[in-house]
Amino acid sequence: MSTPAKRKAGSPPPDSAPPAKPTPFSPQSPGSEGKSPTPGPASPAKSPSVGPGSPSAETSGAFSGAHWIQQGLPQVDSDDTDSALGSDIESSTVSISSSILNYRTINGRTYHSGSVTDGEYWAPNDQKMLGALEIYYHSIFLMMDEQLFQAPLKDDIKHAIDIGTGEGFWAIDFADKFPNCELVGTDISPIQPQWCPPNLHFEIDDATKEWTFKENFFDYIHISFLNGAIENWGNLYKQAYRCCKPGGWVEHLDCSPIVSCDDETLPPDSALATYGKIMAEAGRRIGRSLTIAHDGTQEPGLKDAGFVNLHTKEWKQPMSPWPKDPKQKEIGLYNYAAVTSDLEGVIQFLFQQVMGWSTEEITIFAAHMRQEMKEQKIHGYWTWKVVYGQKPEDAE
Ligand SMILES: C[S@@+](CC[C@H](N)C(=O)[O-])C[C@H]1O[C@@H](n2cnc3c(N)ncnc32)[C@H](O)[C@@H]1O
Repeated sequence: MSTPAKRKAGSPPPDSAPPAKPTPFSPQSPGSEGKSPTPGPASPAKSPSVGPGSPSAETSGAFSGAHWIQQGLPQVDSDDTDSALGSDIESSTVSISSSILNYRTINGRTYHSGSVTDGEYWAPNDQKMLGALEIYYHSIFLMMDEQLFQAPLKDDIKHAIDIGTGEGFWAIDFADKFPNCELVGTDISPIQPQWCPPNLHFEIDDATKEWTFKENFFDYIHISFLNGAIENWGNLYKQAYRCCKPGGWVEHLDCSPIVSCDDETLPPDSALATYGKIMAEAGRRIGRSLTIAHDGTQEPGLKDAGFVNLHTKEWKQPMSPWPKDPKQKEIGLYNYAAVTSDLEGVIQFLFQQVMGWSTEEITIFAAHMRQEMKEQKIHGYWTWKVVYGQKPEDAE
């Protein structure tokens, strides 16, 4: 897992700020143990072709960038938007070594340095995206009933690791909860804060490389929100198994960008329906699936690696504050704030570099998607799935 770039994370970016602590919310969970809220799409076949322009059934017609140019910018009908909710939405949208910092720049957005990994991770690592990730973290935390993990961890665990830690929000909260546990958070971008609990440190590390952590070492290995980042999940799970202590736990939480809907309010030619299809196709083209939660990758992969005692849980994350239930509404509100605060950042690399859309096509498409989310007529949600499992107590 080590790279020449492996190091302790350095100074925070000048404008970085401490993560906001999650706020309380009203209880009620849609989580359902072991069963899917809606059937997901069939596992996509992996396409070796990477790059713009390869036509497919899913990217024709309404799913092409040209279609969105023909549509023009969306008309904003004030009657369509609940003004009270609308104002809620507006007001909630708040807020080394030198080669590691040698970020790639595409259309004014920065991405991780090519010196850290051979792969190209699709999300920017600049302040705009980091701000969005902070809000995503809060929405996910609410969705999971304010639980940081699902595995039955003992209070006296000693060593844990967070793979692809991002800005380290989860890692900081976990380190606070387990002050006697040494936690390491790894990532390919040095975007972690310098201030953090004394039992936490960060390392720049590519999780797709051979892990150099000790064998049989970690009591807990946490993997979260790495869709589109990993080509070979089986290989990563095997590394995790090797470095996990016998009796220790691994946990992988991930999602799919496919928008699901239970009440037929999602038109197939909507921007929201298009979004999931284009993201899924882009993941296929780069050979790193973005639809982990739908692909059925987690359970068999962890089982093949040797983990036992596997458990699965799924959640529906409303994509805007359309639900009536107050807790679901709040989750949706944060999700809306996260997505709309940097939708262009989420789609730019995949839609443009991989699928070949123009900047104008992306801009108009994003305006339609934001408008659909704001109107809340579409009762869509994203699916998150966690699978956790244990290394056998008697493993060698
Ligand atoms: C969407 S963020 C998720 C951050 C955090 N795990 C969370 O759940 O909020 C994905 C993170 O994975 C990191 N990443 C992508 N590819 C990686 C790799 N090969 N090894 C380690 N980290 C990686 C990215 O830099 C980014 O910070």
